[in-house]
Amino acid sequence: MGLLLHCALLLLSVSTLIAGLDFQLGPKGNRQPAFVRRSNTEVQAARIAKRSLLTWLAAAAASPDHKIRRRSTEDGDSCKALQGHDAKLAANTHRYTFNDLSGSVSLAWVGDGTGVILALTTFQVPLFMLKFGQSKLYRSENYGKSFQDVTNLINDTFIRSEFGIAIGPENSGKVILMGDTSGSHESEIFVSDDFGKSFIRRDLPFMPQMQIMYNPENSNVLLVHSTNNEMWLSEDFGSNWKKVHDAVCLMKWGRKNSIFFTASHNGSCNEWGMLELKRTTDYGKTIKTVASKIFSFGLGGRFLFASVMTGKGSLRMIHVSVDQGETWNMAQLPPVGHEQFYSILAANDEMVFMHVDEPGDTGFGTIYVSDDRGTVYSKSLERHLYTTKGGDTDFTNITSLRGVFVTSVLAEGDSVQSVISFDQGGEWVPLRKPANTKCSATAKDPEKCSLHIHAAYSVAMKLNVPVLPLSEPNAVGLVLAHGSVGDAISVINPDVYVSDDGGYTWMKALNGPHHYAILDSGGLLVAVEHNPKQPINTVKFSTDEGQCWGVYNFTDDPIYFTGLASEPGARSMNVSIWGYRDTFISQYWISITIDFRDLLTRDCTDKDYVPWLAHSDDISDPKDGCMLGYKEKFLRLRKDSLCWNGRDYVVNTQPTPCPCTLDDFLCDFGYYRKENSSECVEQPDLTGKVLEFCLHGKEEQLLTSGYRKIPGDKCVGGKMPERKEIDLSQRCVSDLVSRELLADGHSSRSVPIVITVVIVLLLSIAAGVLFVKKYVCGGRFLVHRYSVLQQHVEDNGAEEIDEPLETNHVQNGKIEFHDDSDEDLLE
Ligand SMILES: *[C@@H]1O[C@H](CO)[C@@H](O)[C@H](O)[C@H]1NC(C)=O
Ligand SMILES: *[C@@H]1O[C@H](CO)[C@@H](O)[C@H](O)[C@H]1NC(C)=O
Ligand SMILES: *[C@@H]1O[C@H](CO)[C@@H](O)[C@H](O)[C@H]1NC(C)=O
Ligand SMILES: *[C@@H]1O[C@H](CO)[C@@H](O)[C@H](O)[C@H]1NC(C)=O
Ligand SMILES: *[C@@H]1O[C@H](CO)[C@@H](O)[C@H](O)[C@H]1NC(C)=O
Ligand SMILES: *[C@@H]1O[C@H](CO)[C@@H](O)[C@H](O)[C@H]1NC(C)=O
Repeated sequence: MGLLLHCALLLLSVSTLIAGLDFQLGPKGNRQPAFVRRSNTEVQAARIAKRSLLTWLAAAAASPDHKIRRRSTEDGDSCKALQGHDAKLAANTHRYTFNDLSGSVSLAWVGDGTGVILALTTFQVPLFMLKFGQSKLYRSENYGKSFQDVTNLINDTFIRSEFGIAIGPENSGKVILMGDTSGSHESEIFVSDDFGKSFIRRDLPFMPQMQIMYNPENSNVLLVHSTNNEMWLSEDFGSNWKKVHDAVCLMKWGRKNSIFFTASHNGSCNEWGMLELKRTTDYGKTIKTVASKIFSFGLGGRFLFASVMTGKGSLRMIHVSVDQGETWNMAQLPPVGHEQFYSILAANDEMVFMHVDEPGDTGFGTIYVSDDRGTVYSKSLERHLYTTKGGDTDFTNITSLRGVFVTSVLAEGDSVQSVISFDQGGEWVPLRKPANTKCSATAKDPEKCSLHIHAAYSVAMKLNVPVLPLSEPNAVGLVLAHGSVGDAISVINPDVYVSDDGGYTWMKALNGPHHYAILDSGGLLVAVEHNPKQPINTVKFSTDEGQCWGVYNFTDDPIYFTGLASEPGARSMNVSIWGYRDTFISQYWISITIDFRDLLTRDCTDKDYVPWLAHSDDISDPKDGCMLGYKEKFLRLRKDSLCWNGRDYVVNTQPTPCPCTLDDFLCDFGYYRKENSSECVEQPDLTGKVLEFCLHGKEEQLLTSGYRKIPGDKCVGGKMPERKEIDLSQRCVSDLVSRELLADGHSSRSVPIVITVVIVLLLSIAAGVLFVKKYVCGGRFLVHRYSVLQQHVEDNGAEEIDEPLETNHVQNGKIEFHDDSDEDLLE
């Protein structure tokens, strides 16, 4: 037992043959949680297990661990304040039982503050290559307190759960459901523009291969990719469709009604690296090719990225455009080979976090942060965990405090460790150990260890982590996450930790895994224990950012809990507990909605808020709290105030600028910082060389003083770097993304300015073999290693890099974007 509990989580990765898509966006808030109920056999197994555990459980029940906790004794009587509300809450608890045996349910909120929820339950069985199924549609107008079966509005058509419910942007009230017509060449959709009150059937002259994409700026305009790789568009919300282009491999909505897509010459999307990137700004009337020899492309903030074949073997490089593809610059990032990938971790109009995969199936890469042009990059974090399957990265934007990001690194010995950055990727540090915890046995030193956050990677590894870390822009400073305390992420059941200062300090809030939700802009937290094996009947709630938790039994007849649902945006006071009951005769879905409005009896007034300086631990120090050139003072709800922020609550912030220091600047292209120095010095190996890096071609003068403000930095006055402008344009060779230029191979004159690391794979590793990094607790484990045989900077053109061993990277003609298509999109 000891061994098992104290074993650190090791990377468990099966070497996949490349991650086909270059530009993935990390997990994004989804308005449609889907709850999946376990199959009957699992339930059966649970029932048996339960019986045998009965005596053990009886003993455990004697030590109730749902006791109200408190962090310190100075917090007044707020913990007591949460007791004795059962009657009040019971009067505001609404049960709805679904007469439905379906296997999964998807929820979607329609509109903001409308209280309209659509619930789609589906039941599917695969049978002879075809899928047979049944679905039911329910609609609520009161935040889930009651539902109406509205399946008849869509004439009992089977809706495919994998396409779910497509909700229109903003408050358009638009809804699209896609009917299943497996086997035929046409399809049908049901559209609504009145928040799902009524639906109209529309026939599609094609079979969609993914969910329909709304134009984010005009919800009447729809775009969709058909199963035979055609791109179809409708300008009248699905009545009429026109085919815009054939042989399309990937498509995305850009800004200002633009559509970007890659197309192949002969209809085969296998020929990545041979694709053309096209753009239309008039819904397909005119189409312009903006780049050729494209492998893939991505959009992030105001940046358009394309990975372009270099003409040297299978290497490709990132090019970036900030004018919708009119002009391109080569990004100062390492080129990658076939088996590697690029990924946009996060981006806004100012900068981008880019992950560049390491050669070989290492499961990690390097994070680079860009300047404001998207061309010059600084190395931010090495050994950043990102498994090749894609999506399995812990990278998380902590949206409740500016500049804070959390992710994981694959440390020595292949243990996974969490790191946090408070300055937009400038520096990464381990998370501070919560004061009220002890280091687990993964720690070498029982006094010195740190907190590790369980995010997407742990979920993908099927650890007992029911939900991802949670933060909301309107709940300033608040972060909820599963974590463990030690030297690395632990495989044992994680606990729930809360930070109220954007991740600087943490405390353990709940024992064991929970689902959690933020309500009333952080004024109320709700959590339900995650225990798939046992029915539950308690919900926990906190009005002081997780220090004290009240307990409320919402039913006498416990349910198998599957998920917690509240309106996105964290302004609601209504939360729904979804689950099912399992009787001898049948199983059925049940949702229990609790309105917490009566718990907080009064509206908050000015006296309920206290000033708080972000990024600060010493308010008397004038330099304290400066982050990216300014400090922000917020008015935050006092922890002991029992009041309602309200739906109209706006974050109250007073920013003040800070004087500049050299640390407010990045080194520009051609410059670097020496270790422990803030000064940017000219890169000696670039002097007198022809550079394969240009800004807007040959014409433009490229002057630099060596420093550039960090994107988003608003410092004023203070230390301004000496301006010593150097003209780099003579050393510059234009490298526009045009077919002509790239076609007449220019390898002789190109010297990549980035260090080329040549890695030769050990020959003992046979091609195609799947390597598994086993995790064997405490014992020996098998790890495959690549040895670095050569590592040098080439002066005269990069040495040819060995062809990757695995070249059959795309299994069939179809590119697998459908399921993740949402996550490719950047707003
Ligand atoms: C459902 O079927 C009826 C009768 O066939 C038809 O009039 C109606 O338009 C259909 N409704 C939808 C949403 O397709
Ligand atoms: C498309 O062209 C490439 C060469 O450019 C060729 O290898 C591939 O087989 C072609 N695919 C089809 C479906 O014709
Ligand atoms: C992180 O989230 C905040 C709040 O939503 C947003 O303003 C910011 O642009 C995000 N940063 C990046 C790099 O995406
Ligand atoms: C709430 O339910 C738990 C079992 O889930 C039980 O132990 C506890 O006594 C109940 N509390 C109240 C006040 O009924
Ligand atoms: C909770 O739901 C009720 C309707 O049942 C609604 O009137 C109320 O506005 C909701 N509360 C919040 C804060 O959204
Ligand atoms: C930089 O600082 C670190 C820690 O302060 C020190 O260990 C290291 O030797 C320094 N490096 C140089 C080149 O001065």
